[in-house]
Amino acid sequence: MSKYLITSALPYANGPIHFGHIAGAYLPADIFNRFLHQKGEEVLYICGTDEHGVAITINAEKAGIAYKQYVDNYHKVIKEFFDKLNIRFDHFSRTTAPEHYALAQEFFLDLHKKGFIKPAVEDQFYCVTCNRFLADRYVSGTCPKCGADNVRGDECTKCGEWLDPSKIVFPACKVCGKKPEIRQATQYFMDLKAFAPKLKEWIESKKDWKPNVKNKALSLIEEGLVKRAITRDISWGVPVPLEEAKGKVLYVWFDAPIGYISATMEWAKLNGKPESWKDWWFDKETKLIHFIGKDNIIFHTIVWPAMLMGQDKPYIIPENVPGNEFYNLEGRQFSKSEGWYIDTADFFSKYGVDALRYAIASNGPETSDSQFTWEDFQARNNELADSLGNLVNRCFSFIRKNFEGKIPAIASPLTNEDKALLESFKQGFDEVGKSYSSYRVRQAIAQAMALAHSSNKYINDTAPWTLRKTDLARCGTVLNVAARAIINTAILLYPVMPDTAFKILSRAGLTPAGKAPEFAPYGGDLNDLPLGADDTLLFAKIPDEQIKLEIEKLKSSANPQV
Ligand code: MF3
Ligand code: ZN
Repeated sequence: MSKYLITSALPYANGPIHFGHIAGAYLPADIFNRFLHQKGEEVLYICGTDEHGVAITINAEKAGIAYKQYVDNYHKVIKEFFDKLNIRFDHFSRTTAPEHYALAQEFFLDLHKKGFIKPAVEDQFYCVTCNRFLADRYVSGTCPKCGADNVRGDECTKCGEWLDPSKIVFPACKVCGKKPEIRQATQYFMDLKAFAPKLKEWIESKKDWKPNVKNKALSLIEEGLVKRAITRDISWGVPVPLEEAKGKVLYVWFDAPIGYISATMEWAKLNGKPESWKDWWFDKETKLIHFIGKDNIIFHTIVWPAMLMGQDKPYIIPENVPGNEFYNLEGRQFSKSEGWYIDTADFFSKYGVDALRYAIASNGPETSDSQFTWEDFQARNNELADSLGNLVNRCFSFIRKNFEGKIPAIASPLTNEDKALLESFKQGFDEVGKSYSSYRVRQAIAQAMALAHSSNKYINDTAPWTLRKTDLARCGTVLNVAARAIINTAILLYPVMPDTAFKILSRAGLTPAGKAPEFAPYGGDLNDLPLGADDTLLFAKIPDEQIKLEIEKLKSSANPQV
């Protein structure tokens, strides 16, 4: 048994979640979490909303809404969305929780005391029209690294670089559009360089990290870590806990990851064991796994581990940082403001949650960018209907009709064909399990679906509809074997499609009772097991016409591409 603490990047409380976020940081983590539950591991899955930062203050100001009210609303919207999508956190907190402010200040003070955080005077853009320093995204311009236009001050959305806002080329004030001037101001800087040798050794020791994450992290160290300002002159955020720093707040990327810990503290308190968060964060046996999108790599492999290493308290550091690439929509980044998005409420009412989880997970951006296209979604949904849906339906309808709704007993010796199918599942659990453990969900799904295909083929080859007339005992045996294959397929796919797995298991007459089914070939006796109530089709095929309409709808809502 191992102990896992899983996190997904805390989403900004700054708008609804889209499929791109889901594919990067949430669905892969939820799948991993569900798989570990199936394996009987001890696991805690933590998340919450990231509620500070200039991305939020700019939008709240534009909307004319108070910051707190603005994040309250999106916290709720996002939480409801995750519930709907069956992303099952043990706790979903927020970085405006009181625990969080206290802990973020403690982190700062500890690093400050040891000299890892020091004040310095730096160049900063100042907008004379708006009368203020332009922190982070209050300035936009050209990325000094990759040359992309119109990027925000602190992070380039194209190359993912963490930027020093004063280095932006052709800067403009985000609010009034004017060119700002350079003025000097004091900020507090984190000395990342001091941690470079330790970080390097730690990252190099990680043999099972994804190459994209490991290479990026090592090349950042190779390029040389520079001092980074971790404070800002704005009013929304965690106040810097120093007398002489009145009016400054912590940079959002300093406080946000601390949210992983403060959320665990809140969880512990809600569970009536306020000290139990330490069993996770101070226990060297805990495997801390951060699921993120690739734009977050520097923060989770460099900055955050350095913050943890610099604490007096015995915090663990990450075991793995499975970072995913980007997931786009029909060749372009998801963007609500550009009209390039999918209305998720409308989507779920038409197509269901599991079809989406399946479509995203089976085409996830694990090693390179991938995308949602309506045609790909149709193909994957229809493949589910044709293989899995059809398999379940033909087997159980046949049993219902011809065997009084009970799975017939094995009434003839197993043939090599029967044994081969059952054997392939034993091997299947090993292989699929390895894939899930190594964050290769695409491969896990392909392996599980291959078993669904061989189960369909088994039914075709054994032809129970003919056996019914010629050899009833053999017919029963075949259906018993097929039912077991179906149950095993459902168990294999449970992490990806939990609702569907439960539906299949209860249709087979088992009562899963909401608990993750053990990740092993089903061992129980199926003889004469009464099938559960028949429900409707598991997956409906989507006709071409409907997909055409969806594509037209997307194109007509889109702003022209800039
Ligand atoms: N809010 C950030 C984003 O969406 C992620 C924060 S992850 C954390 O890119 F570690 F800082 F919490
Ligand atoms: Zn301005």
